[in-house]
Amino acid sequence: NFPARRFAKFARSLSDIGFCFDIDGVLLKGKKAIPGAANTLRYLQSEKVPFVLFTNGGGVSEESRSHFISKTLGVDISPRQIILSHTPFRALAQDERLNRVLVVGGPGDSARHVAQEYGFREVLMPIDVLAANESIWPFHRYSKAEIANLAIPVDSSHIYGPSAKPFDCILIFNDPRDMGADIQIVADLLNSHGGYMGTKRHDKGEVPSVPILFSNNDFFWANDYPQPRFGQGAFKIAVDAIYNKINGTEKMQSMVFGKPEKVSYDYAHHVLIDWRNWLGGKREPASAPVLGRTPERSPFREIYMIGDNPASDIEGGNRAHWNTVLVRTGVFQDHDLVHDTENLIARPSHGVFDNVEAAVRG
Ligand code: G3P
Ligand code: MG
Repeated sequence: NFPARRFAKFARSLSDIGFCFDIDGVLLKGKKAIPGAANTLRYLQSEKVPFVLFTNGGGVSEESRSHFISKTLGVDISPRQIILSHTPFRALAQDERLNRVLVVGGPGDSARHVAQEYGFREVLMPIDVLAANESIWPFHRYSKAEIANLAIPVDSSHIYGPSAKPFDCILIFNDPRDMGADIQIVADLLNSHGGYMGTKRHDKGEVPSVPILFSNNDFFWANDYPQPRFGQGAFKIAVDAIYNKINGTEKMQSMVFGKPEKVSYDYAHHVLIDWRNWLGGKREPASAPVLGRTPERSPFREIYMIGDNPASDIEGGNRAHWNTVLVRTGVFQDHDLVHDTENLIARPSHGVFDNVEAAVRG
C-alpha cells in the first residue's frame, strides 16, 4: 500500500514531502551498506526530495558520521542532514547552570570532543575520574595506554576533595564501553552530595543529586551479529534499578532523548526544514531549535520515517503523526508480529518492506 514512485512528480521543484531515514538496520548494518540504500538516497537527491538521517547512534560528530556514510554508500551526505542521538544536546550547551558535565559513552574519547564542539564548558569523562583515582572501580577495562592517551591529565584534587568543583549534569552520549565502571561512576554522582565526586548525600528520593540525560533508550540495536545487541536502554535499566535500590524508590527521575521521544522528532523536523531551505538555496547557518518546540509552520505536507525498529523509529514516527514505514533489514523480524498477540509492537502506517529501496521506490 506504499505509493511507489509517487515522488517523481516533484522533480526539479522542492518537495513538500520529506524523509527521515534511520541509519543502523536501514542504510547500514555494522559498517557495511545495506543493498539498495545508496540507490534510494541518490534517487531522492535526483528528485530534490529533502531527507535527513535520524539515528539513535552517536559518540562521534555529525561531520564524521556524514563522512563515513558518504564514503560507505558513495553518496554525498552533509553533516546538516545528520541527527545523532545526542545532536539535541547542542541546544543545552549554552545553559549557564552547566559548567562541569560528565559525558559517558564510546568510542574512545570522541564524545568529549563532540561535547566541546557543542559548546559545553568543562567536559569530563569516566576515564578522567578513573585516572584520578582508580580505586573508584578497580575492575575497569582501560589499559594503561588508553588512560595515558585518553584521560585528561589532572591532579586528583581537580575531581576529588574540598577544592574540586561539582558536576552539574550527566550526559549519556552513547553506549558505554566499560559498563561496570560507568554504572559505578554514574551511580556515585547521582547519589552524591550536590554533585561532588567521592561524597554521599544523606537524603533519598526520586530526584538524583545531578540531573541525568540519556541520548537514547534503545534496548536493542542491530549490527552484523545474528541477534540484536543490547543498547543504551539496557544501560538505563541498570542505572535505574541500582538508583531505585539505593533510594527505595520506584522511578528515578531522568530525561530521555532520541527516538521515539517527541523532543527528538521535533528537533529532527527542524533539521529537515533547514535542509529543505538549504536545497532551495538559502545558505543560512542551521537554526538552533529550542528543545520541545514543534515547528509551527512546516513546509512539509507529509514526512516519512523509514526504520527497522518498531519500538523507536515507528513508535516515535506514529506519535509525531508522521507516516511510518518498517523494513526487514534490521531489528524487526516478521515473527515478532506473529507473537505480538497483545498488540504491543508499534505498527507502521505505510507497511513493511524487504528493504529501504522497496519501501521508497516500490
Ligand atoms: O542504539 C544504537 C544505535 O546504533 C541505533 O541506531 O540508526 O538504528 O537508530 P539507529
Ligand atoms: Mg535502526
